[in-house]
Amino acid sequence: MTTDLAIEAVGLAKSYGSTSVLDHVDLRVPRGGVFALLGPNGAGKTTTVRILATLTRADTGHVRVAGHDVGTQHREVRRRISLTGQYAALDEAQTGEENLRMMGRLLHLPSRLARRHATELLERFDLAAGLVGEPEIIFLDEPTTGLDPRSRAAMWEIVTGLATAGVTVFLTTQYLDEADRLADRIAVVDGGRVVAEGTAAQLKEQVGGRRLDVELAAAAGPEAFATVVRQLGPRAVTADPAQRTVGIATDGTAAHVRALLDEIDAGRDRVARFDVHTTTLDDVFLALTARPARTARPAPTEVRPTATEKESEHV
Ligand SMILES: Nc1ncnc2c1ncn2[C@@H]1O[C@H](COP(=O)(O)OP(=O)(O)OP(=O)(O)O)[C@@H](O)[C@H]1O
Ligand SMILES: [Mg+2]
Repeated sequence: MTTDLAIEAVGLAKSYGSTSVLDHVDLRVPRGGVFALLGPNGAGKTTTVRILATLTRADTGHVRVAGHDVGTQHREVRRRISLTGQYAALDEAQTGEENLRMMGRLLHLPSRLARRHATELLERFDLAAGLVGEPEIIFLDEPTTGLDPRSRAAMWEIVTGLATAGVTVFLTTQYLDEADRLADRIAVVDGGRVVAEGTAAQLKEQVGGRRLDVELAAAAGPEAFATVVRQLGPRAVTADPAQRTVGIATDGTAAHVRALLDEIDAGRDRVARFDVHTTTLDDVFLALTARPARTARPAPTEVRPTATEKESEHV
């Protein structure tokens, strides 16, 4: 194992009873920058964070965090990391607002300030960033889940600022745009496995640089739609029977687009319209997990701190 990595995990596996939660996960996180673990509900993100942060033991596998083994040197690891997010209660998701307050403390802001609205935190962030000397690695488990758009933007600024200050930020997210926007590298997890890893650009390349969207003519009927989808097989990254649209991975060259159109519409009477656009991380997610990604913004909600406020912990 090398030391130029902030985190190196090899062959992590974890089961609860007969339920396999992580299935041989490998992760290599470079020092510095932002690393995003992107995946849907139940993918194993929080479990992975808990293992990396020494809170849960993996059944098998080896992990080094900040140059130390989480199994045998967990004190050394804990001294170098900070953690916030869902780890405190797996079934009771911590809100992004709580994450923000945690960040406020982390940045050594007086807690009075840390408790104020995220935008106020943001205003002071330039000051706060300079105070960050430690920790080396910060784990943020779904830092923006439940945040209103302004607070979400503030959190993005904070994450970017931390990375600029030299901290390695390991964050989990269900939001593609967040990973795309923040992360230097992204690992896509689904069903306890890493299904893809790389920069956003590399991941987009993996499913073809472009996507051809075709809309079938209404007159062609539903059988034509089913036939086209069947014909394309896994090359159809999206299929919407109601809209009669199919998205197909392509390199975007005229030759390939023409060949695809000829293939699905030899009689030239099925395709009503088409459109070629650059692949998004949504396409990547769909192609890799066969499920649409969550891109919708959470509804703005008022978050009221409770008397027994659940504290995030600087481990
Ligand atoms: N202590 C536990 N006992 C039993 N099952 C667990 C436990 N912790 C997690 N799981 C299960 O492991 C799977 C992965 O959970 P995990 O919390 O790691 O997913 P996640 O990617 O963080 O999901 P979310 O996006 O909802 O936070 C889920 O099916 C979950 O129910
Ligand atoms: Mg989670």
